[in-house]
Amino acid sequence: MENKYLHGYTDHEQQRLLQQAQILSNYIYPAFDFEGMTHVLELGCGSGGQTLELLKRYPHIRITALDISAEQISKAKKNLENYPEYAGRVGFVVGEAMDFIGKHQFDGIFICWVLEHTPNPLWILQNCRELLVQGGKLYITEVYNRSFDYSPRITSFDNYFEAYNQLQYQLGGNPNVGIHLGNLLREAGFSAVQLKPSVNLHDANDLEVCHFMFNYWYDLMLSAEHQLRENNFLSTEEVAAFKAEYAALYEAQRPFFYYCAMQAIAVK
Ligand SMILES: C[S@@+](CC[C@H](N)C(=O)[O-])C[C@H]1O[C@@H](n2cnc3c(N)ncnc32)[C@H](O)[C@@H]1O
Repeated sequence: MENKYLHGYTDHEQQRLLQQAQILSNYIYPAFDFEGMTHVLELGCGSGGQTLELLKRYPHIRITALDISAEQISKAKKNLENYPEYAGRVGFVVGEAMDFIGKHQFDGIFICWVLEHTPNPLWILQNCRELLVQGGKLYITEVYNRSFDYSPRITSFDNYFEAYNQLQYQLGGNPNVGIHLGNLLREAGFSAVQLKPSVNLHDANDLEVCHFMFNYWYDLMLSAEHQLRENNFLSTEEVAAFKAEYAALYEAQRPFFYYCAMQAIAVK
């Protein structure tokens, strides 16, 4: 497969990541404490959405924001130019965690929605351990797609979601990596490993938010449309059916949206 990244690096996708960071921020940051840290590595910063959240929420930290993709780093830099108040607090680098080994150490490392895309998360976690000072903390948020549930059921959506996850496996990633984080972190040599569910549940009781999450999820699904078609995981007709039938979610009397991301804290 020529492009091995599920979501691709289009402008539209980079913009979606910026929005996603804001939409999900209250499901991510309350679990983590950056008090006492001065220099944090953000691994897999994408277009810089989480970088902004980190800069905003923790005014005392400096960030090295790293991504394997030059396109993402270029977009992240451009985006940060809109926030002169954060100038001088972040450095953007194209590369991988291993590039820093023996050169830099950090008080903390932040990883969000990255390990699902890598064939060897254990190796990345081992590298992260090398990059932390003694007592330094690693904070991770990752997908656990098997937890996803919703109502009312739509067959074309179920097919689309199944294809989405299977493609992620075929690209070498793992759409359920979140549930493995505890075991992986202990194997990588971390101590005080904690694994926490971050539950996102909305139903008719908060219908607006429920519909908002359906919108968010629709955009997430479509971020893989190109790859799904290119790799013959779905036909044009199957994608069209998903798009047409998804609207039924907004008509339902008793809808619900449920997703449980997994968060991990670990200490060197
Ligand atoms: C879904 S995006 C998440 C971006 C950002 N963390 C956020 O939440 O908005 C995943 C990012 O991880 C990057 N990535 C994948 N594997 C990586 C690796 N081994 N080292 C650094 N970045 C990586 C991709 O290029 C992509 O920008």
